[in-house]
Amino acid sequence: MPAPRIKSPGALIAESGADREGHGLKRTMGLFQLICFGVGAIVGTGIFVGLSGSVAQAGPAVVVSFILAAITCVFTAFSFAELGGAIPVSGSSYSFAYAGLGETTAFLVGWCLLLEYGISISAVAVGWSEYVNELLHSLTGWQLPQALSAGPADHGVVNLPAVIVIAMACVLLVRGVRESARATAAMAAVKLAILVAFCAIGYSAFKDGNLTPFSPAGLGGIGAGTTAAFFSYIGFDAITTAGEEAKNPRRDIPVAILVCMGLVTLLYCAVAVAAIGAIGGDQVAGRPAALSYVVNQVTGSEIGGGVIAFGAVVAIASVVLAVMYGQTRILMSMSRDGLVPRVFEKVSPRTSTPVAGTLIVALVFALPAAFAPLDAVMNLCTIGTLAIMAAVNIAVIALRRREPGLARTFRVPLYPVVPVLGVGFCLYLMYETGWTTWIQFAAFLVVGLLVYLAYGRRNSTLGRTVDAEVTQDATDAVPQAV
Ligand code: ALA
Repeated sequence: MPAPRIKSPGALIAESGADREGHGLKRTMGLFQLICFGVGAIVGTGIFVGLSGSVAQAGPAVVVSFILAAITCVFTAFSFAELGGAIPVSGSSYSFAYAGLGETTAFLVGWCLLLEYGISISAVAVGWSEYVNELLHSLTGWQLPQALSAGPADHGVVNLPAVIVIAMACVLLVRGVRESARATAAMAAVKLAILVAFCAIGYSAFKDGNLTPFSPAGLGGIGAGTTAAFFSYIGFDAITTAGEEAKNPRRDIPVAILVCMGLVTLLYCAVAVAAIGAIGGDQVAGRPAALSYVVNQVTGSEIGGGVIAFGAVVAIASVVLAVMYGQTRILMSMSRDGLVPRVFEKVSPRTSTPVAGTLIVALVFALPAAFAPLDAVMNLCTIGTLAIMAAVNIAVIALRRREPGLARTFRVPLYPVVPVLGVGFCLYLMYETGWTTWIQFAAFLVVGLLVYLAYGRRNSTLGRTVDAEVTQDATDAVPQAV
């Protein structure tokens, strides 16, 4: 059996030029920008739209679901922090898997990243559309007809707002990282302010009785709620995709990941308790634009709900922007390694951004956004992300054994308990996604493997080097005629 093709961390860093200036991408992001970028990538559709679905599963115990989902993510966040500090390149989990687990697993992780990033661009854009209509309604009393604001599975024709938000993110990303980072920071501030205001309004109407019965569907409901709530945390790892554009990635990336996770978990629990405490779980469960509804009910006017809808529109747009950024950077790394076509690694000298790659990503993921229903894409996105997170935890263990001397600016605490528990939690939540999602996911992986064998394996730059060395060794071994 051939040895797995493994790329050393040193080779990954050297090829990306991540430890030197002038390597194509510009180093413009400090710690504050990285935290804003993280909040920008994490807080969006999951809390503004998905909360009502999680409450439908778990009732007020959705708070427990949020905490369990956060624990799953925090175990893995430690692993991302260790590897993000040690291997600061833009490929994120794909590059970590390449160094820890070999090329085939790395390609499959990259393939799953199309679910975590690409498909979540579509899912998040669909969630955006819901609040755009809510905002239009509170501003003008009019909203887009169903035909233009939902895909065929939701009794519409095309989800136009979802396509528009992807197009806007594409334009910003093409213009430059500095512009995108500024926009993301501003949007992160707006959404934090809106969610804090939401909590204040919700708590002003808080009634203890609204939290009982606390767990109407028991442990099963909490488990299902946890899987649903998990979507709200997707994106924290996007911070590691900024490894080549951060000013001091080795120090700032681990800190930014952990700060973001703490902040966002507190915020989500506070928002869930405020929403349910104000009007009761039954009123929140399954309701479209639920946060606006809560505020309308508490204040007795549509103005407050309109402000929340505005916040949601800004918040969700920033997730589309940050996640699309992450997707283009991962494809760039894969392209550099020869596993996907070279077009994804081309950086425009004028804007210092991967223009062609960004346009392709926007075009491809605008299609599911225009036509697919949110639930279907959310579940696939969740299982794909969990599989990636499990792989990253395993990569930490593999690299600790294979590269004990690697410079690590952050180390996972209580090693190896934390990464092993991280894998366990990921597998549990994957199990909770249900058989339909598993079957779709298995089919997706088989297609990925075929693509790898047909394209990636043959064009891999590492593979070519290994083959050349094997040929050279064989030539050296042949006795020379005298
Ligand atoms: N966590 C991201 C969101 O909730 C994907 O929109």
